[in-house]
Amino acid sequence: MKALVLAGGTGSRLRPITHTAAKQLVPVANKPVLFYGIESIVAAGITEIGVIVGGTEREIRAALGDGSRFGARITYLPQEAPLGLAHAVLIARDWLGDEDFVMYLGDNFVVGGITGLVEEFRQERPHARILLTKVADPSVFGVAELGPDGGVVRLEEKPAAPRSDLALVGVYLFTSAVHEAVAAIAPSARGEMEITDAIQWLIDAGRTVTATTITGYWKDTGNVTDMLEVNRAVLEGIEPAVAGSVDAASEIVGRVRIAPGARIIRSRIVGPAVIGADAVVSDSHIGSFTSVADHCRISGSEVEFSILLEGARIEDAGRIEGSLIGRSVQVSGAVRAPRAHRLVLGDHSRIQIAS
Ligand code: G1P
Repeated sequence: MKALVLAGGTGSRLRPITHTAAKQLVPVANKPVLFYGIESIVAAGITEIGVIVGGTEREIRAALGDGSRFGARITYLPQEAPLGLAHAVLIARDWLGDEDFVMYLGDNFVVGGITGLVEEFRQERPHARILLTKVADPSVFGVAELGPDGGVVRLEEKPAAPRSDLALVGVYLFTSAVHEAVAAIAPSARGEMEITDAIQWLIDAGRTVTATTITGYWKDTGNVTDMLEVNRAVLEGIEPAVAGSVDAASEIVGRVRIAPGARIIRSRIVGPAVIGADAVVSDSHIGSFTSVADHCRISGSEVEFSILLEGARIEDAGRIEGSLIGRSVQVSGAVRAPRAHRLVLGDHSRIQIAS
């Protein structure tokens, strides 16, 4: 069995972070979201991984390399434009051959991994197996309608009037039967070749398509709220470990991981939280569900329920919460009168000022 991981896409919902970084590389608990997906594929016993790449190919390659760090072998498959998930299968056709495969969208996060699902698929070998989960806003997903026996009756991509609250999770299991379906479908109204339509084609052609509804936590990490939620869920499970230095005037409470070279000075860290390598936190309070990446500097501030990317600096900034702060961003308090907000913000930045 092989795996096809999709790591193209523009990440428009995560701007401005994704102006300079691939959305699949945004960190969750200081590790790129894509790494969790690759690790769960390898944990399921699949080591031949094809990665579909687009405009951010260079970064994705730099992060994943040849796959040996994950115990896998990675082949890169460039997609010239984001023409849809079924198009990704089409261009991977030769590499996939006639093997069964799991298709994994690189910005999806399945808590608890996919080992059980892959095992079930291997035993039962339906033509395709999809994963579903109940969501509050089905119209932004692919939506499944199940029959009375639990079989998949109909799939619709982002329907205006969803027939159920069961969304397609971005993990799909296929036999080579999918290739016939992909070759048969036409692009959708949004101009993409939808995998949803290919699976519907399989259903219409009388092939076996089964569904597993997962109740465990999962999120499409394409937006900030979801990123913070995934970060929270992952931090809840971290093993506490303090490798960096903590001075006598500081206090560490609960599950906290502090990477080597980090320094905590006159500060309080309340877990679950992670502090990256060579970060310095001084005269500050880091609250629960916060990930501080390598080389950040936080002084005289409070940060809670937030993700800070590498090299961000927060100085005398008061209290910050529910925030996603990009690489090398600087946030500082206005020390001199007049107390005005002075902002240098990149395209698509969003800020909320408490005044
Ligand atoms: C894609 C699929 C959709 C699925 C979703 C899961 O949507 O087309 O059916 O529910 O991934 O993440 P996209 O987010 O690429 O628009």
